[in-house]
Amino acid sequence: MTTVEDHFDATIGGNRRIEPRDWMPDGYRATVIRQIAQHAHSEIIGMQPEGNWITRAPSLRRKAILLAKVQDEAGHGLYLYSAAETLGADRADLTEMLISGRQKYSSIFNYPTLSYADVGVIGWLVDGAAICNQVPLCRSSYGPYARAMIRICKEESFHQRQGYELLLTMMRGSDAQRQMVQDATNRFWWPSLMMFGPPDDASPNTARSMAWGVKRHTNDELRQRFVDMTVPQAAKLGVTLPDPELKWNAGRGHYDFGSIDWEEFAAVVAGNGPCNAQRVAVRRRAHAEGAWVREAASAYAARQAQRKRAA
Ligand code: 3HC
Repeated sequence: MTTVEDHFDATIGGNRRIEPRDWMPDGYRATVIRQIAQHAHSEIIGMQPEGNWITRAPSLRRKAILLAKVQDEAGHGLYLYSAAETLGADRADLTEMLISGRQKYSSIFNYPTLSYADVGVIGWLVDGAAICNQVPLCRSSYGPYARAMIRICKEESFHQRQGYELLLTMMRGSDAQRQMVQDATNRFWWPSLMMFGPPDDASPNTARSMAWGVKRHTNDELRQRFVDMTVPQAAKLGVTLPDPELKWNAGRGHYDFGSIDWEEFAAVVAGNGPCNAQRVAVRRRAHAEGAWVREAASAYAARQAQRKRAA
């Protein structure tokens, strides 16, 4: 007789998807909620760095593009909170865990956006890294997560292209604009490599997440894929990546690159990055200011349900 564990193992082993109604080990449910929730938090917090430049975009066209991108990130957060709720999580609880520091969001969003070139570099490097990390998640074993990723990845491609096109335009501009792009690249290159998480030998979740098909590649594999993809793009752009050890290794078929400052990563993840306090304070304030909207929506839904029962 096939047990529920057998069915779960056969589904994972057969690269098929686990759906909300399927039995799953508590550990699978917990780690998928953890990853989806932190992914959703990252999307929502990620609206802040670029949102900082909406009122200062250099043209109506650039403003419209940036508005569309920031709105996309909000939508990505909502898809992902909805995916987490199919596992029994509650988005109000998840938001409270974010605001109280009991759940994480991506380290990359704790760095300041000091010039308009940062908007282009975030699109090019941060959304480029997100694409490397998220495309494999379209094959994640948890169905709702994988399906959310398919829609999100289509929009990430637009995010990456608009950022790269913005930088190409600036690089055809003045010396000052070219220097802004190089400065933004210098500040975001290493934090973009950190986005992929700690090295595999320091990752407590990767082995189990890979065994369960939640993740399809390790942190180091995806980090290397990102470096290999980005080095030629930097050359075409005409910027220098701030790593003197970066060079093609024909034997490996990959670029070798320098050491990442894991102490910086740990400090940022622990809440001691340049903008952590500001990012969480803004999120806390937005949540408080939006309470009336949530109350009105709940009251409206309750009255509609009451009318339906009375009809
Ligand atoms: N920032 C903050 N915390 C991080 C991190 C980062 N860049 N990388 C890893 N961590 C945390 C993990 O959450 C874990 O802590 P936890 O157990 O308390 O959750 C710890 O460090 C150890 O890391 P692991 O590698 O063991 O953890 P995972 O197996 O979960 O791998 C991950 C980390 C690769 C980020 C994985 O969770 C993942 O692929 N998540 C989905 C993608 C995602 O969240 N991307 C974030 C950016 S979203 C984005 O870029 C939006 C775009 O529009 C710009």
